[in-house]
Amino acid sequence: AAGDGNGGGAGGNGQAGEGRRSAHWFGAEGRAGMLYRSWMRGQGFGPEVFDGRPVIGIATTWSELAPCNSHLHRVAEAVKRGVWQAGGFPLEFPVLATGETLMRPTAMLYRNLLAMEAEELIRANPLDGVVLLSGCDKTTPGLLMGAASVDLPAVMVTGGPMLNGKYRGGDVGSGTHVWKFEAEIKAGRMSEREAQLAEGCMARSNGHCMTMGTASTMACMAEALGMQLPGSAAWPAVDARRMEVAQEAGRRICEIVEEGLRPSRILTREAFENAIRTNAAIGGSTNAIIHLTALAGRVGVELSLDDFDALARDVPTIVDLMPSGRFLMEDFCYAGGLPVVLRQLDEAGLLHSGALTVTGRGMGENVKEAVCWNTEVIRPMAEPMQPAGTGTAVLRGNLCPDGAVIKQSAASPELLRHVGRALVFDSPEQYHAVCDDDALDVTPGDVLVIRGAGPKGYPGMPEVANVPLPAKLLRAGVSDMVRISDGRMSGTGFGTVVLHVSPEAAVGGPLALVRTGDRIELDVPARRLELLVPEEELARRRAEWRPPAAPDDGGYRWLYREHVMQADQGVDFGFLRGARGHDVPRDSH
Ligand code: FES
Ligand code: MG
Repeated sequence: AAGDGNGGGAGGNGQAGEGRRSAHWFGAEGRAGMLYRSWMRGQGFGPEVFDGRPVIGIATTWSELAPCNSHLHRVAEAVKRGVWQAGGFPLEFPVLATGETLMRPTAMLYRNLLAMEAEELIRANPLDGVVLLSGCDKTTPGLLMGAASVDLPAVMVTGGPMLNGKYRGGDVGSGTHVWKFEAEIKAGRMSEREAQLAEGCMARSNGHCMTMGTASTMACMAEALGMQLPGSAAWPAVDARRMEVAQEAGRRICEIVEEGLRPSRILTREAFENAIRTNAAIGGSTNAIIHLTALAGRVGVELSLDDFDALARDVPTIVDLMPSGRFLMEDFCYAGGLPVVLRQLDEAGLLHSGALTVTGRGMGENVKEAVCWNTEVIRPMAEPMQPAGTGTAVLRGNLCPDGAVIKQSAASPELLRHVGRALVFDSPEQYHAVCDDDALDVTPGDVLVIRGAGPKGYPGMPEVANVPLPAKLLRAGVSDMVRISDGRMSGTGFGTVVLHVSPEAAVGGPLALVRTGDRIELDVPARRLELLVPEEELARRRAEWRPPAAPDDGGYRWLYREHVMQADQGVDFGFLRGARGHDVPRDSH
């Protein structure tokens, strides 16, 4: 398997000693070799680590500013044990930690920067293989995208979910309950003091969100794609077996280097189809659509928005987790985790069982002995939580010529076909400024349009589409309204929310032409989203439309606005599409 081309002029991977990529550094003669080795020995490594063994990078998104990833240094220690056991030389290095909770204006603005940094660091250094440590939402796709573009042997180890939140005898889901508590507080049913207690009970250990939000979804996607070891997605962050699987990944990456098993052999069209169907089965986050599309663009796999709808249509949702269902990731883990779901898909003929994975075997082979220990949490295919065809739907229509998505399982069934009056806001801030005002002219049948939240317009396409309902409606007991946005929704969020409207308002998509008082028709069973305004009137508005002035800010945000692609293209930078391989760069010494 070694040396099949993509390694470029430096010789591929998979040959011992001399032929390794790392040998260009540590095996070098003369002054340069001395220089490479000497500084490494300053860390206390003996000369034996330069004997031609595989050098394994451990790319970690550890940071105290990304609380979901704050335990990854411990996971890295476990990976290192495995690498040493298998005769490799592990070296941990930090990459951008994109934490959802603190980063402004949105962690999504930095996913591509993480991908770019990971790609460049892997290529620039004496590495033969890499283990990718992620956790919080954007860290998993960012690392996968970067690793795919370098295409050096790679295994992902996600950091695992937090323990289930517990408050007053009940389960509390991270993210999901923030929305619920907010509504309770606004409706006057929860006191400040109770809210303070509850926030401490929600996040009670290291780990990422333990709902089936974006982090858990992307961990499952990494496993369904074949990029992390079977069962990896679900072990809680603080479970001893999380460390065990990390150690196993450390051993396995050394073998993978010998086998020359690179991401391009794993990330095939079949792997993406497996991931898309898995996402439907687990009731995963809408954000997976954007991240999988971006990743597919890195490896040259054609994937359109319509593939997501078509592939998911025959898959029922069988995992009963918040935000759509009842349970949390700990329950999912104890029920058997993702291998159970994959096995059930396989038995239903919905899995490409031959798709190659980091185990070196096909996906079907990996999961053929998986057993379900709790059929409430992971239902049998014949008794699903949601029937096939009711997962995330892709909409088309004059309001979203390049598509939009809606997570049906998080929506109210009675709103899936709805005609209402548009109430338009040019930014989430504009809405927030008036949503608690009792004078706001709004009725439960209205359609809230939140625009200016797209990739270019915000910039960064934040998770703001599921804005809370106006306070006066909440007090009246209204629990859902149709919302439409060019932004995203947190994977832990819920409601009848149309997301990812493309093209976005900031580039002159039809969303920019909507005015308060217009009528909008949503028909999810027919996959339609229409602005009920005559075309002549729309043409008149289009002629009057002027793009919003771009801020004169320069820097990374300028780069982002210049190069970011729309939601249906995965919000990657155009210039980052494709793989650039792992040739050994020229020497500066
Ligand atoms: Fe990090 Fe949810 S905030 S995973
Ligand atoms: Mg999120």
